[in-house]
Amino acid sequence: MKNLLAGFLIAAFFLSFSACNETGQTSDDVVVHQSAKPVIPPADNAATTSNYDAAIGTGSFTNVTLSKVPDPQKTAIGKTLFESSCSSCHRLTDEAIGGPGLKGITKNFRPEWVLNVITNTNQMMEADPRLKSKAEFYQVKMPQLGLSNDQALAIYEYLRAEQQKGK
Ligand code: HEC
Repeated sequence: MKNLLAGFLIAAFFLSFSACNETGQTSDDVVVHQSAKPVIPPADNAATTSNYDAAIGTGSFTNVTLSKVPDPQKTAIGKTLFESSCSSCHRLTDEAIGGPGLKGITKNFRPEWVLNVITNTNQMMEADPRLKSKAEFYQVKMPQLGLSNDQALAIYEYLRAEQQKGK
């Protein structure tokens, strides 16, 4: 009888111990999550925002004039390029798969900014406050793809054509 009671007490002890441990783990998770947030040192931030134009970004696109209607030929080329170079990480919806969903990208941002992201990716990732603030969130870095300005413009036309259709 004594043995049975001792066994029961030991079992109860381990049960309460493991319950305790579970709540311990939950609060640990929260701590890890918080420390994983990107921390941008203020000095670094000040250095890049002083002469950086966040609307246009940095790269060879400083002033882009677009036709009212997307060029159908460029749009077709852009579609093929988007499918081969971008669609593994980007959807045209707001769904993030590897990279952020590009919904509304041609409506909410200047074409110069989008085109500089595509062609001058590494420098943009270092200089742009929006991209830097989200970098920690994505597991893969957007690669510098080596596309020409014309190829980037064709992709832009494709994005613009899709987004004018309401996508
Ligand atoms: C290997 C994955 C990958 C590929 C391929 C890729 N990207 Fe990205 N892209 C990313 C990631 C990750 C980000 C987010 C970077 C950040 O915010 O720090 C991003 C960001 C962007 C942004 C900024 C979006 C925003 O809301 O801030 C644009 C625009 C973009 N990519 C366009 C393209 C285009 C167009 C292509 C093809 C030419 C392409 N990307 C290819 C991973 C990729």
